[in-house]
Amino acid sequence: MLQKLYNTNTAVLFRHWFGQIFGNNIVTINENSNGIGNSNDIRSDNSNENKSDIRYSVNLKAACQTVIYAKNFSLWYGNKLAVNNVSISIESGGVTAIIGPSGCGKSSFLRSINRMNDLIPNTRIDGRLIVDGQNVYDKQIDLVSLRRRIGMVFQRPNPFPKSIFDNVAYGPRLHGTRDRSQLNEIVETCLRSAALWDEVKDSLMRSAIALSGGQQQRLCIARALATQPDMLLMDEPCSALDPIATGKIEELIVALKEKYTIVIVTHNMQQAARISDRTAFFCLGELIEFDETNKIFTTPSNPQTEAYITGRFG
Ligand SMILES: Nc1ncnc2c1ncn2[C@@H]1O[C@H](COP(=O)(O)OP(=O)(O)OP(=O)(O)O)[C@@H](O)[C@H]1O
Ligand SMILES: [Mg+2]
Repeated sequence: MLQKLYNTNTAVLFRHWFGQIFGNNIVTINENSNGIGNSNDIRSDNSNENKSDIRYSVNLKAACQTVIYAKNFSLWYGNKLAVNNVSISIESGGVTAIIGPSGCGKSSFLRSINRMNDLIPNTRIDGRLIVDGQNVYDKQIDLVSLRRRIGMVFQRPNPFPKSIFDNVAYGPRLHGTRDRSQLNEIVETCLRSAALWDEVKDSLMRSAIALSGGQQQRLCIARALATQPDMLLMDEPCSALDPIATGKIEELIVALKEKYTIVIVTHNMQQAARISDRTAFFCLGELIEFDETNKIFTTPSNPQTEAYITGRFG
């Protein structure tokens, strides 16, 4: 049935993969035939029985909102298992926080989403990771385009040793934008979105390195926004910042979540409670619990989560 669906090209009807929250099968296919959700994906994701029925059994509303879907996803560095059999379904929009003790695979999982782990030698994965309908480990994937759509902000602000303007314009230039007035507009819009414009509008040609840590981090967010991503991955973006700069970044994240799907790793549980809508608790590479933030911090289902959030370990 699904093969027929694909062959007859009615797949253009569907914008996203349809998946089910928590662990059920991804179901059908998205809008085009440019290697996005190709026929191999259909077959391998639905290699079990009752293929034709699955499509109709999902909760379509919930499924359409799914933007990051991992199914039995594992990641190794050499022999070291860092992410262990994680299945998770993250909805579009809002902020998802990933919390857990040091070394439990939070960053590894986050970096898997836009394949930043590829830059580390001897990494190996198993399972599936689907982002916005696209298997990110598909051989045909265009990594430049993937990372354009999934921006990343790291623990330490890492502006390029270039001007403020050139930092923000870097991505658009890389993707072919040369027109100066267009670049001016992108730079202003992104700096405004990152709540930095008012502080730097008169010194755009100044070196980014001369900015404070908090300003550098907001610049890095502006740089990530400049390629018009759909989502932002943030790995402890405030851990190198003072409380005031942290407060600004948190306000910014809350503002940005209206427009972008944000996944943030944080060690700061107050921060997770303040800014996130959903929280995933990882431990020893496994996803222990994933739920609404309010639930995780008030009535977690798993004793390990409770022990962690009450400070009994970690
Ligand atoms: N480049 C690497 N090579 C080998 N092992 C790695 C590498 N990066 C991480 N690891 C290992 O993978 C496991 C998960 O690491 P990861 O950085 O994902 O944890 P984390 O939860 O982000 O920790 P932290 O809170 O300290 O940042 C750890 O045991 C770590 O030692
Ligand atoms: Mg980390």
